[in-house]
Parts: sequence; structure tokens; C-alpha cells
Amino acid sequence: MCGIVGYIGSKDAVNVVFKGLEKLEYRGYDSAGIAALCENEICIRRSVGKLANLKKNLLANHIHSNTAIGHTRWATHGKPSEENAHPHTDSQNNIVIVHNGIIENYIELKNDLHKEGRLFKSETDTEVLAHLIERYYDGDLFCAVQKTLSKVRGSYALCVLCKHEPDKIICARKEVPLILGIGTGENFIASDIPALLPYTRDMVFLENGDIAQVNREKIAISDILGKEVQREKKHILWDALQAEKDGYKHFMLKEIFEQPRSVEDTFRGRIYPNEGKVYIEEIKLSAAELKKISKIYIVACGTSYHAGLTAKFWFEKFAKIPTEVEIASEFRYREPILDKNVLVLVISQSGETADTLAALRLAKENNCQTIAVCNSIGSSMSRESANTIYTHCGPEIGVASTKAFTGQLCALYILALDFAEKKGTLCESESCKYIVQLWEIPLKISAILKKSEYILKIAKELAHKKTFLFLGRHLNYSAALEGALKLKEISYLHAEGYAAGEMKHGPIALIDENMPIIAIAVKSRVYEKIISNIEEAKARGGAVIAIVNDCCKEVEEKFSKTICIPESDDIISPMLTIIPLQLLAYYISTILGCDVDQPRNLAKSVTVE
Ligand code: AGP
Repeated sequence: MCGIVGYIGSKDAVNVVFKGLEKLEYRGYDSAGIAALCENEICIRRSVGKLANLKKNLLANHIHSNTAIGHTRWATHGKPSEENAHPHTDSQNNIVIVHNGIIENYIELKNDLHKEGRLFKSETDTEVLAHLIERYYDGDLFCAVQKTLSKVRGSYALCVLCKHEPDKIICARKEVPLILGIGTGENFIASDIPALLPYTRDMVFLENGDIAQVNREKIAISDILGKEVQREKKHILWDALQAEKDGYKHFMLKEIFEQPRSVEDTFRGRIYPNEGKVYIEEIKLSAAELKKISKIYIVACGTSYHAGLTAKFWFEKFAKIPTEVEIASEFRYREPILDKNVLVLVISQSGETADTLAALRLAKENNCQTIAVCNSIGSSMSRESANTIYTHCGPEIGVASTKAFTGQLCALYILALDFAEKKGTLCESESCKYIVQLWEIPLKISAILKKSEYILKIAKELAHKKTFLFLGRHLNYSAALEGALKLKEISYLHAEGYAAGEMKHGPIALIDENMPIIAIAVKSRVYEKIISNIEEAKARGGAVIAIVNDCCKEVEEKFSKTICIPESDDIISPMLTIIPLQLLAYYISTILGCDVDQPRNLAKSVTVE
């Protein structure tokens, strides 16, 4: 998720764009840049790192212009560096572009452009667009952009300038937001509302496939075929802070609701519903190397560790590789048996967690194969691991991890299918079946999010309780652990996740009418077992709130409350069962007046031991 801004009018365009980027820095901050038209030339300033570095660059080398576009980057392809920072130009510096999104087929397009003798300056997918526009440019920028977009697969929100047509900015969107700000004698473009509010409250929200030509006095919008379309102008009343949270009260709630998008962005370009094949170019492990792997150690902390517990089932079931999941702070001190036939897979949203990073280094010292699952390109783990698969969730601002968790599950699931394909342990039809299960997840998460009001009602009934038990079995044991972690870290209430089958070996003594039990009871090979475990708990007076996907009256009557979620194959159910648990934790915490986004004693990334 990056931030882009455009301006055309009579103000100091570079200043307007820079201030807009500052409002969007929460969307990405590993590099930034601005391009402006001055005396019919394209002038560009780019800096790696936070916007403050670009500010210094601009102060030293200001550009006087009334037309500019800018970008603050959350890298998806190509490490954070000045050459990978946007804006990107064509080979003659006549055309310049900023882009948010992922061009899935950029490699094949880049190969075609290479064959035409075009040279590239960056590792990004975006630069391919600049060269394609140059290929099609014959004096009509709008038409060149239109032809370019007809060639690309993927997602985009983009702005394009051309020095031969200085009176306009061409912009377009597909799957990624882009908003036009309507002024008088000036117009604005931005990824999100906060960048526009200081100048205008009148906005037009582009829709998928729209291409807009933005002049000082006029905006013309058409669809991808060039047919003019009308888009309603909206008057936005939000204040700046509301806008940064997209109208949500907290970043955590916004990020919970972003999960249909972040899961889709993570599997985009890596799976297709009618194919039994997955595509992960980033993983360089060959089939021969994979076949030599005798064991996988998954190593992580906190929520990422819980994602690893779930993934264990996938690596063993799909790829038949023995897999152990370890807490990083334990793993690094217990002298694990490591050698070149062991794969150490680290999971980290930040890519900076000290214990996990140390485990990765221990693996490399012992010549292990290494893979990192990260949400932050250019992080220490992504730089030091031999292979990295990125979750494309965008920045996760809330300290409690939510969209990063489902993004990690998505990436790990695809990785396990990739291993199975390379090892030949899954036939194409089985692989296709599992891929379709993942493909359907975003819609199913959306269906659960529609029950948020009902979950809020349950939270109101539970908020005065002091201690909670979360029960799950099999794949959903990890979801129970994660649900308990979510609640305790943002509400400061005691909550414990437990394997439901283990309760009778002691912890059941804890249960009485003051201890709500949150049980994950979705249909699975252990469904009857978990139902009997729950009955045992109920017999001790515990009120049971169950997450179910067999939403019939007979099941619902077994529990004090049920939260019904869409059916899925049990193998992928944790990607769904965790959603109501995230919402329950969020609502209880807000009812108690806790600081949801920045809970006491915690940090977003624990970079110390
Ligand atoms: C999860 O909600 C917590 N914020 C915490 O457990 C976190 O998952 C853990 O610190 C690991 O962080 P990482 O994924 O960035 O390595």
C-alpha cells in the first residue's frame, strides 16, 4: 500500500504534493519522490527512507512548478532504494509515472520491452508501465495510457505526466483507491482523503477501470474503452484524523476490515482459481533442494508464532515434510539440530523482531536453507534470509496484529502448496481444490465482518468478566491461542488459549460461571470431540460462546451464544475463525476504554531481546 498525490493549478505544486504525501505517510514510508513539470522539462527528486529525507532534498534542490505528482512507497517489488523509489520515467525522460498496486505480469512485459532494446533503471514493476506508455505514445498521452493498461494484469492507482502535454495529468485506478479533489482553477489527485482535506472537501472517487484526464479547469473520466462516464461528486465532512483511519475509530478496526483486501493482495498473481499451480517467483528453492529437506523449523514470536502453528498442518499434509514450530526466544538457546537439509522458516510482520532475527542468523551459521515470511520489504529478515515471501498487507499500524496474521496464513498456505507441487505430493486436482478454498476466503471474511454489530452485542455482555478461556482443537488450537492473545494484549484481561482435549487434564478445575468460554467448534475431523469437550466445560457452569459453521438450530441450542461463520474446508478454517475473535477482542477493549492501537507495555516491533 503506497501513497500517491497529484496537483495541477496555480499553487506551488511541489509543496502541495509534499504536504499531501505527509498525510499519507502511514501508507508506506520506505522511500519517496516527486516529479514536476518545469519549463517543459520533467524534474525529479527522490530519497530513500522517510519523507523527512525527501524534504531535505527538496529544500536543497527546490522545483518551481504548478504541476506535480508524488509517491511515498511501501515496497512490493524491489528493495527500498533511490533507484527503486517512484516516480519512474521512460527511456527519454518525456514521461513520468507514480503507481500504487501490483502489476502481476510485469516480468513478461519487461522481457518484451527488453527485446525492443529498452533499458531499465530499477527492479520495480512500475517502471514497466513508463516504458509501455512510451511505446504507445504518438502525441496522445490519454490514448497511450489506455493502451498500456489494456496490456497489464494486476492492480493500479497511477498518475502520469508528459512534458509534451504539460496541461494535464492522466490518472487511473483498478482495485486500489484513487480520489480526485475538485478545486477552483486547480484539481488534486490522491490515494486517500487526508491528502485532499486541507484544500477541498469536494471529491470524486474513481471506480475500477476509470481513466481520468485532469486539467486545471476540467476533469474528464472514461472507462478503459474510452467511453465517458459520470462519477458523483461527494462532499466529505471528516476531520483529518478520522480520514487517516478511513472513518474507523482505530487503526486496529480499520485493519480488521482491510483483511478481505490484504488477503487478496497477498495471493494476487500467485494463485488462479482454475489452475492447480501456484506462482512464487521469490522462492529460489529448487525441487531437487526441496526433496533433500528432512525437516522444517518454523520460528517466530507472538501472533507470527501462532501463524506458524497453523502452517505446520499445511507443510505436513500438503508437502509431507516433518515440521516443528518454535518460539524464537526458546529456539535460539536450545541447541537445535541444524544442517543443510533443514529449512528454517521465520515469520515476522516487521522483519525486525530480535529473537526471530537471531534464530535466522543461527540457521544461516549452520548452513540451513532459510525463508522469511515478512510484511516489510527491506527489513533485516528480508535482507538476510536466502528467500523471502512477502505478505502484501500494507503497513499495519495497530500494535495488535490482525491483517498481518491472515496475510501470513495466506502466504504460508501458498508456500506449502508450492512445496507440494515441487515434491509431487499433491495431484493437480487436489491442489486446485485447495487453491479455490483460498480464493474464496476474502468474500467469506467480508461475510463475517457484516456480523460485527452482533459481535459487539456479545462483547457488551462479556466486558465485565475478568478471565476468559479460548478453546480450539487441531488446526483451530492456534486460532484459540491467537484469540486469547488479541484479548489480553489490548484489554489487559486475563485470557488463555487451550487445546480443548487437554482441558480435562487440570485446567477444567478453573471453570465456573464467572469464566466465559470462547470455543471454536467448526466442522472438522475432530468436531464431535470438541463438542464433547465443550459439554464438559458447560457442565461446570461455564457460559460457552461458540464459533460455528454448522449454523442449524440444533447446534445453536448447545451454546449460550453462537457466532456463525461461512463453511470452508477445515484445512483453511483458521483464516475465518480468527475474524470474530479479533472483533470480540477489539470491542471488549474499546468498551473498557483501553488504548486499542497503542496498548500499555507493548511495541509494534520488539527489536530487543
Ligand atoms: C501481536 O498482536 C503482537 N503485536 C506481537 O505478539 C507480535 O506478533 C510479535 O511481537 C511478533 O512481531 P513480528 O511479527 O513483527 O515479528
